[in-house]
Amino acid sequence: MSQPPDLDQAYALKTPDDNRKLYATWAQSYDEGFAARMAYRLPALVAGAYAGAGPVLDVGAGTGLLGQALAARGVGPIDGIDISPEMLAVARGKAVYRDLRLADVTQPLDLGQRYAGVVSSGTFTHGHVGPAAIAGLLDLALPRAQFVLSVNKGVFAAQGFDAALSALGGRIAGVHLHEEAIYGDAPDPAHRADRAIILTFRAV
Ligand SMILES: C[S@@+](CC[C@H](N)C(=O)[O-])C[C@H]1O[C@@H](n2cnc3c(N)ncnc32)[C@H](O)[C@@H]1O
Repeated sequence: MSQPPDLDQAYALKTPDDNRKLYATWAQSYDEGFAARMAYRLPALVAGAYAGAGPVLDVGAGTGLLGQALAARGVGPIDGIDISPEMLAVARGKAVYRDLRLADVTQPLDLGQRYAGVVSSGTFTHGHVGPAAIAGLLDLALPRAQFVLSVNKGVFAAQGFDAALSALGGRIAGVHLHEEAIYGDAPDPAHRADRAIILTFRAV
């Protein structure tokens, strides 16, 4: 049997289609073989930083780890979008989402509803989704909606997240950044020290 993908392969992706293909082969082993093994912290950190109510949109919901962490804190209803049907199938099995939809966040989205909160863990990173998607997510947000997005520190400046936030100018307020370790006591020495920015702001 072939090995499940690893972080280096995930970080080297280039297109949404690359993501679709990689996560098709990762979905079944992701929770145990990656998240538990690496003591992956971002879903809990993003859920812990979310201080709003529902409805909440989880962007790049994957297997539903962030939805589980939000639900455990009493936040809901939670909807999720992801580009990978296989990842969403695992999330669906956890029964914490009201609605899960296949969608590419780099394309214009109309989900037929607006959200009081927009959250994301692990999706704004190398080879995945860049800062251009944030403007589209603002179109899905209610006035004063709270955003909590993890952004891999290695792409924050390199992909221009700071410039993109400045360009959003009057559409967002209360921007706050803090830095966290992505993994706990991870066995993978190449990524043990990886860090993320937990980015929070409000839609105006
Ligand atoms: C590292 S996983 C994170 C999943 C989950 N949020 C977590 O923290 O475990 C990244 C997710 O982003 C999704 N993704 C990648 N590109 C995407 C895109 N353009 N639109 C929507 N989802 C995307 C992948 O399918 C994958 O499920």
